[in-house]
Amino acid sequence: MDLLTSVMTTGLWIGGISATLGALISFTDKIVNNYGDLDIDINQGKKQLTVKGGASLLTTLAENGIYVPSACGGRGSCGACKCKVNSDVGLHLPTEMPYMNKEEIESNIRLSCQIKIKSNIAIEIPESLFNIRKLACSVVSIKSLTHDIKEVLLKLPDDTELPYEAGQYGQFEAPAYKDIKEPTQRAYSFSSHPQLKDHLEFLIRLVPGGIVTTYVHEHLKVGQSINVVAPVGDFHVRSSNAAMICVAGGSGMAPFKSIFNDMISNGTMGIRDIWYFFGARATRDMYYLDWLHGLDAQYEKFHFVPALSEPQPGETWNGPVGLITDVLGDYLDNKISKEQAKEGYLCGSPGMLDACMNVMQKKGMKVEDIFFDKFA
Ligand SMILES: Cc1cc2nc3c(=O)[nH]c(=O)nc-3n(C[C@H](O)[C@H](O)[C@H](O)COP(=O)(O)OP(=O)(O)OC[C@H]3O[C@@H](n4cnc5c(N)ncnc54)[C@H](O)[C@@H]3O)c2cc1C
Ligand code: FES
Repeated sequence: MDLLTSVMTTGLWIGGISATLGALISFTDKIVNNYGDLDIDINQGKKQLTVKGGASLLTTLAENGIYVPSACGGRGSCGACKCKVNSDVGLHLPTEMPYMNKEEIESNIRLSCQIKIKSNIAIEIPESLFNIRKLACSVVSIKSLTHDIKEVLLKLPDDTELPYEAGQYGQFEAPAYKDIKEPTQRAYSFSSHPQLKDHLEFLIRLVPGGIVTTYVHEHLKVGQSINVVAPVGDFHVRSSNAAMICVAGGSGMAPFKSIFNDMISNGTMGIRDIWYFFGARATRDMYYLDWLHGLDAQYEKFHFVPALSEPQPGETWNGPVGLITDVLGDYLDNKISKEQAKEGYLCGSPGMLDACMNVMQKKGMKVEDIFFDKFA
């Protein structure tokens, strides 16, 4: 046996032993640590649950119809599932620390996906979470908007209406499929008009190797049923006269479609300045251009600025070329009044958002006036 084969064989043995040990620990935890029935007190007696111990607080609450926001589906990578715990559940875990500031640590704010229920527990959550429901929706249509973005229209169950604010999101639940053994939830912003109360629309970009987007792009079919936990999130337009500096990339268009259509319906479109910067690589990544150029033509105060970062040879493109951060910086320096009060609204990949927030702050916008949903 050569050295490489010997190392690989040893690696496989170690991997096999670790997997067996992991399974054994989990099995032993279930048998030995039979936590039995435990109580969860929510908001000082407002709700009392008796639950089986051993699972995460997030999962246990969801099993009892209480949906704490969990954009990443409980992987500890979004920080959305915070709640205040008034019982001793041990020190903050390293996985929680990136999402906590000093005050949150001192007031025992925890990530509900990271703590397990092992004894009776008292928690506090916003009462608004009691309105979040899991809805079995049916797929009405799936349209390709670009090579990797689909527009998915769902119908809510009969006689169900879902009031929500433009900018909020729903959590798709992909069922177990192929090698994916458990249902998996991820967040998708509503692109639908909130007035359309019995339907929900989403714009979903395929992430190669991603669990839920692969399910939506390759397995979900018209007429099928899919669970959506909604409405979640607090991204929304603040009521003020400040100019809205909106920036999106890819499927980050979704909440802005909902917000702009909502503003048209409630008569607030055209009253304050809106600058909408949309960044894409090449023309094949651009969509809804006719609709947005139409708004720009119709409303004097609506300014649509689509930009391409990597136009392909031979493409026809008359708009700005460059990274959306550079285009944004140029407009803040040269085209948007410096004196005008401004609010930032951003949606898209974490990298793009962080870079745009940097530009906004460098150009004098205050961090407390910048609102965003990072599609992490
Ligand atoms: C508030 C909010 C709103 C959002 N709205 C939208 C929206 O409107 N539209 C939209 O398209 N997206 C939106 N997102 C992003 C969305 O929630 C998902 O994060 C995204 O679609 C990826 O999900 P997925 O299950 O397909 O990928 P995941 O399974 O989460 O995988 C993501 C990436 O990680 C890699 N990966 C996964 N597991 C592993 C592993 N074990 N080791 C190494 N790599 C791994 C995958 O290969 C993939 O590249 C939003 C996110 C948030 C937080
Ligand atoms: S659900 Fe995302 S961090 Fe807990």
